[in-house]
Amino acid sequence: MNKDRRVLEVGMFTGTSTLAMAEIIPEGGKIVCLELEGYLKEWATPFFQKAGVEDKVDVMVGPAGDSIDTLAKQQCEKFDLIFIDADKTGYLGYYNKIMEYDLLSSTGFIIIDNALMKERVYTNELEGTSSSIWCTMATDSIHEC
Ligand SMILES: C[S@@+](CC[C@H](N)C(=O)[O-])C[C@H]1O[C@@H](n2cnc3c(N)ncnc32)[C@H](O)[C@@H]1O
Repeated sequence: MNKDRRVLEVGMFTGTSTLAMAEIIPEGGKIVCLELEGYLKEWATPFFQKAGVEDKVDVMVGPAGDSIDTLAKQQCEKFDLIFIDADKTGYLGYYNKIMEYDLLSSTGFIIIDNALMKERVYTNELEGTSSSIWCTMATDSIHEC
């Protein structure tokens, strides 16, 4: 992870992962967090400041899909690591936008939280759960890329 300079985190919550990543990326690196709730940005910012990593963290408040559109319009630099960890039903949309806008660097990778459930891939038993929604989408789409 030390080689990763630019990180996109989709879904920040209280910034626990953000802080952990900010502490290990080199100076000049950046973590762009997309978070729906404005109050979480207010809540987390003092902790980023206390840890001395505030210059490495940018929080964009609003629906992540809109923020990804904005990043693409701004022609932002590509990301070395993308961590998708927000609303599960939005995952495929985020993934598709990231690919469509070419936001992942050629040596980058994507981590998708909760892609599996209880160590299992999709089965009919998981029908109707957020995990089954994601796994069905992934089965239909991503492995074909
Ligand atoms: C599981 S938490 C993220 C945890 C964080 N990545 C970590 O590892 O500490 C999911 C977050 O996604 C945010 N979220 C949910 N829907 C969203 C959306 N449409 N756009 C942006 N963020 C969203 C929630 O407000 C919540 O803070």
